[in-house]
Amino acid sequence: DWVMGDYIAEAVESIRKQVGSDEVILGLSGGVDSSVAAALIHRAIGQQLTCVFVDHGLLRLNEGKMVMEMFAKNLGVKVIHVDATAQFMGELAGVSDPEAKRKIIGKEFVEVFQVESGKIKNAKWLAQGTIYPDVIESAGKGKKGAHTIKSHHNVGGLPDDMKLSLLEPLRELFKDEVRALGVELGLPPEMVYRHPFPGPGLGVRILGEVKKDFADLLRRADAIFIEELRSTIDETSGKSWYDLTSQAFAVFLPVKSVGVMGDGRTYEYVVALRAVQTQDFMTAHWAHLPHDLLGRVSNRIINEVRGINRVVYDISGKPPATIEWE
Ligand code: XMP
Repeated sequence: DWVMGDYIAEAVESIRKQVGSDEVILGLSGGVDSSVAAALIHRAIGQQLTCVFVDHGLLRLNEGKMVMEMFAKNLGVKVIHVDATAQFMGELAGVSDPEAKRKIIGKEFVEVFQVESGKIKNAKWLAQGTIYPDVIESAGKGKKGAHTIKSHHNVGGLPDDMKLSLLEPLRELFKDEVRALGVELGLPPEMVYRHPFPGPGLGVRILGEVKKDFADLLRRADAIFIEELRSTIDETSGKSWYDLTSQAFAVFLPVKSVGVMGDGRTYEYVVALRAVQTQDFMTAHWAHLPHDLLGRVSNRIINEVRGINRVVYDISGKPPATIEWE
């Protein structure tokens, strides 16, 4: 629409003015905010933008491939894709405390990002997908989630000799405006309207110690759940259950239980399904998903994901439970 078109033209103009002929680095996470920031900045300055996409091995199924396809292939954005799975798994080995895991993932993330962005010579700007609610939040509390590279004028968390200034073109926008902007810039609506995903990723959805095998099982179970939520339409509203829920995902429980398959006995892991409805993520209700949908998800996970023989549904509200299990 023309209002958004005008907004883009103005934003593009102001980004060009701000950075001139300098090089810009942006940490792409696959999330909505950094994706829209990348698309907007790319529209403004094209090849002066280099994105660094750190894959910690804790992303959803095919997420790395999707990010590369959307940005590198479709939009022609310069993206450095770093597969740091081995490094993250190494650091996480033997660690089971949730906050310790978050700290490690956050610290590794900054380290890998620094190393990669340090290779981009002459970079003067660090772009971030900071949106208006983040500005308010960090003004109030001073600190943000594990995933954010701390933002002050000359950016902490990056080597001093890099002397990067911050470029935050979404600072004045609310989430719904960021989404509309993303669609207008040509990002796929299903990407722009995705459920939120935590910075530590599957690291907080695998209870206790994180292992690559667990992540592989969880990714497949989660993808089945999301696929069924997207394809199941509620007749009353005409919306999919994906759109009727605020956040939905699978959780890996590192406990084994007994099952039967054919004439044999199985002894395998458990997956919990979590789906919530919420306005602000501070409080949430568990979603009353249709039983036939839950049944299909359970059958598919147990039949298609060898290693999982039991699926349970989380019926806890927040409070007292949190949305994530860790
Ligand atoms: P909880 O589990 O606290 O989650 O009810 C509320 C919202 O925050 C997300 N979340 C995180 N996001 N880093 C993030 O970037 C984190 O460490 C983190 N922990 C929780 C969660 O997915 C939900 O949307």
